[in-house]
Amino acid sequence: MRNIKNNEIYMVRMLLLVVVCIGLLPIQMRAQKNSYIIPGEVWKDTDGNPINAHGGGLLYHDGTYYWYGEYKKGKTILPDWATWECYRTDVTGVGCYSSKDLLNWKFEGIVLPAVKEDPNHDLHPSKVLERPKVIYNKKTGKFVMWAHVESADYSKACAGVAVSDFPNGLFTYLGSFRPNNAMSRDQTVFVDDDGRAYQFYSSENNETMYISLLTDDYLKPSGRFTRNFIKESREAPAVFKHKGKYYMLSSGCTGWDPNVAEIAVADSIMGTWKTIGNPCTGPDADKTFYAQSTYVQPVIGKKNAYIAMFDRWKKKDLEDSRYVWLPVLIKDGAITIPWHEKWDLTVFDKQKKSDKQKK
Ligand code: GAL
Repeated sequence: MRNIKNNEIYMVRMLLLVVVCIGLLPIQMRAQKNSYIIPGEVWKDTDGNPINAHGGGLLYHDGTYYWYGEYKKGKTILPDWATWECYRTDVTGVGCYSSKDLLNWKFEGIVLPAVKEDPNHDLHPSKVLERPKVIYNKKTGKFVMWAHVESADYSKACAGVAVSDFPNGLFTYLGSFRPNNAMSRDQTVFVDDDGRAYQFYSSENNETMYISLLTDDYLKPSGRFTRNFIKESREAPAVFKHKGKYYMLSSGCTGWDPNVAEIAVADSIMGTWKTIGNPCTGPDADKTFYAQSTYVQPVIGKKNAYIAMFDRWKKKDLEDSRYVWLPVLIKDGAITIPWHEKWDLTVFDKQKKSDKQKK
């Protein structure tokens, strides 16, 4: 009897010790490792906090992926004067995360912070800062960020540029302008194999997509641009290159609400572009899985492997908007983005195997 009691006490003591030890572990060691991409779930960073990088894009540099996005913190606001659903949060800045495996993301901080002191500054919390993308300029050694810079009523329609010596900041804000004297809202930047960089932006009141060659330092428009998808109202451009052809994934123009995606192809980046159709397949493919494109990232070290990144906006609680990342499948020249509940990078290897077996 006594022995049993002693055993029990021992067990309780051991249990307590384990609990205390776990409590003493640094948060980072306690945080779970992610093994899958689960579209629409809350994605945690390596500290265990929800990843906050909306409307974002990736940059691969020296063996590391960097994920930049809108750091949407706090209450979602719909101003009294709003005549349309211009929901927004206060500007906090652009957040940055880093990862080696595209699954586990370390928070690097706010790399372009809001400017609280000056109510007229583009980055004042009362303004709008969206769709930041960062590219690396090999000639200057600088990291260059382009973003959509807005007034609270979305009438400013400008591009903002910031620069840094490091991928994880801080970035120095250089200012905003209307590139080629044209409105610039949803936007992305793309670096071609020859080192030339281009800004794609929804212009002319979101009706026409401009493609603008940047200067060699990537800081300004060069003056050479083309008007594409004229009066087709394409937004949320995401560009990639595959076997010498250029592809642009985009959404229609329905604010925070989802619509049908489209992919287009071109032999030359400045056009002419030809629309192929909706690449999404599976449940809710006609609503882009209730999400909107933001970027397409090649998986480095794998052939024909691209990840399409989308935002599933929660317009009344923008901070809690989710990420939908899906593999882009390229088969016999046809491009699809099939729905997956849960996946990892081995989907690309399986794809390769099944292609080989068919041959
Ligand atoms: C969307 C756009 C978002 C945001 C939103 C505001 O069309 O893609 O980035 O600007 O409108 O309503």
